[in-house]
Amino acid sequence: MPAPAQSSTTAAGQLFIFDHPEPLWEAAADQIAQTIRRQQGRATLGLATGSTPRALYRILARHHQEGGLSFQNVSTYNLDEYYPISPLDPNSYRLYMHQHLFSKIDIPPNRAHVLDGTVPESAVEAHCAEFERWIEHDGGLDLQLLGIGRNGHIGFNEPSNLPPDQAAALPTRKMPLHPVTRADAARDFGGNEAHVPAFALTLGTRAILSARAILILATGPSKAEAVAKAIQGPVSSQVPASFLHTVAPKVTWMIDRAAAQALR
Ligand code: GLP
Repeated sequence: MPAPAQSSTTAAGQLFIFDHPEPLWEAAADQIAQTIRRQQGRATLGLATGSTPRALYRILARHHQEGGLSFQNVSTYNLDEYYPISPLDPNSYRLYMHQHLFSKIDIPPNRAHVLDGTVPESAVEAHCAEFERWIEHDGGLDLQLLGIGRNGHIGFNEPSNLPPDQAAALPTRKMPLHPVTRADAARDFGGNEAHVPAFALTLGTRAILSARAILILATGPSKAEAVAKAIQGPVSSQVPASFLHTVAPKVTWMIDRAAAQALR
């Protein structure tokens, strides 16, 4: 893996700080490729969307096209999806995954799972429970890839006032989006917050924290506060990424200098 400028063990997991994002994407892609190879190609991956993993997916596609990395026997489960949303909507995470990764690798379509933003309201709970059962049936997640929201969310598990042990054990479910999340998402919806769906479906904290390894990425100054609170603050339901403290031995943080600037 490209060498980070700095590495340390923190209360929230192993932390790698890179001077620039490019080697960070390469290192993250290497960890994913290694997970697949270690499992003889049969890995089960939890994937994320947002602006953060775009470059990483470009590199993974290159690993496939030039490095012979096969996804034929890989299963993927995406963290979240807006609700309601059509898979044809340019802002759906289903389309994002198709454009940035699935169409560029050899993953069979029936192994690439994204929560369905079209299920009727009455079927949401069953669909979410089924999604978790599919993951278990696939042997559980070998690696969960995460970004972090400016408010410290993981997936769309937003800050809450629940006791931490409850907030860290939430099931996959429908969630109202936090105002900070809606404001950040507006850039994808023509700059208009009113066009951002009010809800999303998200893999729950319980399933995320159950993954056998967790790789969380953050770049840029806008993530610095959330990163510092998650890594150096207390475990708090106000900062869902702080739940990573509870499973620190299996967590890797890869961040750039800008995202590291609020760490003490
Ligand atoms: C989004 C997604 C998360 C993502 C996070 C950061 O709203 N729900 O899964 O990791 O917020 O997004 P970005 O990478 O665009 O900053």
